[in-house]
Amino acid sequence: MQETKAAKMTEVKGKERLIVALDVPSMDEALALVEELRDEVGMFKVGLELFTHCGTKLLDELKRLEAPVFFDGKFHDIPNTAAAASREIAGRGVEMFNVHAQGGSEMIKAAQKAAHEAADAAKVKRPILLAVTVLTSISQEILTNDLGISDKVDQVVGRYAALAYRSGADGVVASAKEVPIIRSQVGNKFIIVTPGIRPTWASEDDQKRIVTPKEAVEMGTDYVVVGRPITRAKDRKDAAKRIAEELSI
Ligand code: C5P
Repeated sequence: MQETKAAKMTEVKGKERLIVALDVPSMDEALALVEELRDEVGMFKVGLELFTHCGTKLLDELKRLEAPVFFDGKFHDIPNTAAAASREIAGRGVEMFNVHAQGGSEMIKAAQKAAHEAADAAKVKRPILLAVTVLTSISQEILTNDLGISDKVDQVVGRYAALAYRSGADGVVASAKEVPIIRSQVGNKFIIVTPGIRPTWASEDDQKRIVTPKEAVEMGTDYVVVGRPITRAKDRKDAAKRIAEELSI
């Protein structure tokens, strides 16, 4: 954790802040996107759809290409199982991966410890461990009625971010809107990664609480995750370049 927090002090800038979501259904398409965009962006996000299709072969291939990866697997299980999964992923040299904060302190600590051990054993960089607080698809109504949590979403986000921080995670995935409450709980050195980004020139798609790349950085996020505004653009390289420019403030 110390290492990551020290790295955060050096500040991520411009294209390093830009994580492109590889939301495509096949390995060939994913690798083609990586080849096309690798000079314009800092990292590539591998989510559950692509991972369940390709398996660890994809991660190994991305490692061979030296493409930095955010593995968005959102582990949430008993500490022993979450640690075992984290070991597998960290040993493959990913740059970032995540767990659900709702797994609790013991699970987060176990995941972090296993990740560090596996990365050290494989002689690769220790990955940044992020915690997911409350999914942006969870509305107040779902939180209250389905999950039986009577607090406001923002309060729960703040509490889970504080839990992740105390438990040794390096940061959280959160909407830009939640950045102020997270910063008030854990300060400036905790990493915040934000999806739901839309430049003014792109379609909103199904995202609801969107912010522009520039706004996200101004609000205090460290990295942004962008999918369709780049992957569905006519000129994908140009779209990535324009977003990276906006992030260079
Ligand atoms: O295409 P778009 O830019 O909306 O893609 C955003 C990416 O970030 C997708 O991979 C989506 O699953 C992910 N994500 C999100 N909102 C969250 C967590 C992850 O949009 N709260």
